[in-house]
Amino acid sequence: PINQNKYLINGELCKWQGDFQNVYSPIYVRTENNSSNLIGSYPLMDKETALYALESAVNAYNNGQGEWPRMPIEQRIDCLKNFVSLMKEQKNLVVNLLMWEIGKTLKESEKEFDRTIEYINDTIEALKDLDRDASRITIKQGIIAQIKRAPLGVVLCMGPFNYPLNETFTTLIPALIMGNTVVFKPAKLGVLLLSPLLNAFKSAFPKGVVNIVYGRGRNVIEPIMTSGKINVLAFIGSCNVANTLKKQHPYPHLLKSVLGLEAKNPAIILSDAEIEHTIKECITGTLSFNGQRCTALKILFIHEKIYDIFLEKFTSAVDNLNLGLPWDKNVDLTPLPEKDKPMLLQEILEDAIKKGAIICNKNGGIVNETSFFPVVLSNVNETMRIYHEEQFGPIIPIVKFNDIQEPLKYVINSNFGQQASIFGNDAIQISKLIDALVNQVCRVNINSQCQRGPDIFPFTGRKDSAEGTLSVSDALRVFSIRTMVAVKETESNKK
Ligand code: G3H
Repeated sequence: PINQNKYLINGELCKWQGDFQNVYSPIYVRTENNSSNLIGSYPLMDKETALYALESAVNAYNNGQGEWPRMPIEQRIDCLKNFVSLMKEQKNLVVNLLMWEIGKTLKESEKEFDRTIEYINDTIEALKDLDRDASRITIKQGIIAQIKRAPLGVVLCMGPFNYPLNETFTTLIPALIMGNTVVFKPAKLGVLLLSPLLNAFKSAFPKGVVNIVYGRGRNVIEPIMTSGKINVLAFIGSCNVANTLKKQHPYPHLLKSVLGLEAKNPAIILSDAEIEHTIKECITGTLSFNGQRCTALKILFIHEKIYDIFLEKFTSAVDNLNLGLPWDKNVDLTPLPEKDKPMLLQEILEDAIKKGAIICNKNGGIVNETSFFPVVLSNVNETMRIYHEEQFGPIIPIVKFNDIQEPLKYVINSNFGQQASIFGNDAIQISKLIDALVNQVCRVNINSQCQRGPDIFPFTGRKDSAEGTLSVSDALRVFSIRTMVAVKETESNKK
């Protein structure tokens, strides 16, 4: 077990003397005694320690006059490069913890690590471009102007459990490189895998620039938010938590929010869709990492002309998937890390079945306390929870349609607006659909599942799905503000 008894605040790795939170793996260790899945513990911090972390970030920022916010960009880039090389040394340990802590497959865990390194390197390149643009001089109506980007202040970063490394870093890294200082709280699941990186944070950044807190939101986050000293809230998770956090800030007009929230991305499968290709995309679209991705396809609308054949083939493809352990060869599905998740999925399922939905596949349902084999659910309609709510797990609701207005109405009325997929070949029908959908969601995928990457593309959403945009270069903008020096042209400076 990893007993993480050290924490990083104000540039020091201090030893935690208070209570600890045990961490249990969702993986059933194959021994006679299943309780051996205890994999470590982390500090359950109190209010005083959380406020010390905040003060350290506030002091390091020092109203924009601290060493970090005033450091030339090239030097900040050097710090980040140093961080990357220290981080790379920890790959094995981090990948192992991704598997044990959140049950991500070996392949996906390695991908998450490598994608994060690539994200940081791309951020460095994007920053160089941004800086090059900024050093250009503009002369207009007798004014010589130089426009730069400056930091915003103290950022509270909170990442999600499904991408505890990669997605968390899509706010943390741009916030840091733009000269802000940070208080960072990892999600409830996936805390231990950040322990191997504590030394890298400590060595790469000046004191107080990165401060990491752990524990219950009530004890740790509420005091930080109610202090009114946070300038930017960077949160990826549920709408409810985001709304609660925003309300805790005493001066909402002084808080900028950068949010990645929930989604209910539909696939609209037209009558001329290529069946085999569409099934392949919809299997990974709905079920990679067990459907625990905000970008997952969370409802399928299938045209009645191909409905029967599609459903039969899709259902048998789902039943042929392998549920196993993250390091198993050919594993597709793994245990779910959220507490009681199979039971919660079962409740959503029962609600739908009571209202007329039908389970189509043989193997679907609860396997044990942490595993749930995917359920293909047909006859789904708007009276059911599964039609509207984000399931964030392996239930695939299916709706039959004959008029394209039906899925369109679904997207228009949804509380969410992240992405949608269209599968088909009729260019005229698809282009009409695209025109309708681009005003509802932020990415329309043609003959492809929904996804965030490649990370240079803008990643955002409408309605309850997001606030602010998180591509590599957009994120640099979101965590900074444009400032300008304007010099009046005179006879002498004209020369
Ligand atoms: O959970 C939401 C993630 O941003 C999804 O990212 O599409 O790369 O899996 P992904």
